[in-house]
Amino acid sequence: MTDTPPDGARSSPSTARNRQPILQELGPRLPDGARVLEVASGAGEHALFLAAGLPSVKWQPTDCDPETLESIEAWRASAGLSNLAAAIRLDAADPNSWPDGPFEAVVCINMIHIAPWVATQGLMAGAARVLTHGGQLFLYGPYLEAGIATAPSNLAFDQSLKSRNPAWGLRDLDRVKALASAHDLAFAERISMPANNVIVVFEKPG
Ligand SMILES: C[S@@+](CC[C@H](N)C(=O)[O-])C[C@H]1O[C@@H](n2cnc3c(N)ncnc32)[C@H](O)[C@@H]1O
Repeated sequence: MTDTPPDGARSSPSTARNRQPILQELGPRLPDGARVLEVASGAGEHALFLAAGLPSVKWQPTDCDPETLESIEAWRASAGLSNLAAAIRLDAADPNSWPDGPFEAVVCINMIHIAPWVATQGLMAGAARVLTHGGQLFLYGPYLEAGIATAPSNLAFDQSLKSRNPAWGLRDLDRVKALASAHDLAFAERISMPANNVIVVFEKPG
């Protein structure tokens, strides 16, 4: 797998840093043959890397931004992975744009703080709808957490997000958990990740 973006593809330095730790945590938690819906795939590098590293899973990348979909497609065309589906447009906040599923997992990396809260509301409602019973929602990113001092780098990131768009910003993890619970998604696990990020796992009851 090449790291050089093919024509039309975008690349992000943060993905190069976080993709391996994400693979390490996700891999053992996904059942063999899992169908995975990725919400907000961005440039598509996670989709490519995770599909390549988890050949038994079927990875469905999505995003709401048409330019981003082009980047995902450029990466996908260059990789020729049979378990990586063509990207589809999905706006987390628009229930009509979600596929029917079912999926054993929904994965969302770095969207919740870079989108208005309505996207998180749509993400929870959509995941609750498309997940299989026992299926899991994985969120990756930085959060504000009660009882845990927020790292200065995350506080600065929060400020810079809010200056770009007042509707953006790091979310309070307790608020995200309460929203998940309102959609019958049970909090299952919190995994510390490098650079003051976490993976939070929610499960649809079996
Ligand atoms: C910071 S990027 C993260 C991309 C990728 N997951 C990563 O970690 O590199 C945020 C992504 O969220 C997408 N996004 C924002 N609002 C969204 C929404 N309502 N539904 C789906 N995707 C959304 C953007 O288009 C963008 O690709």
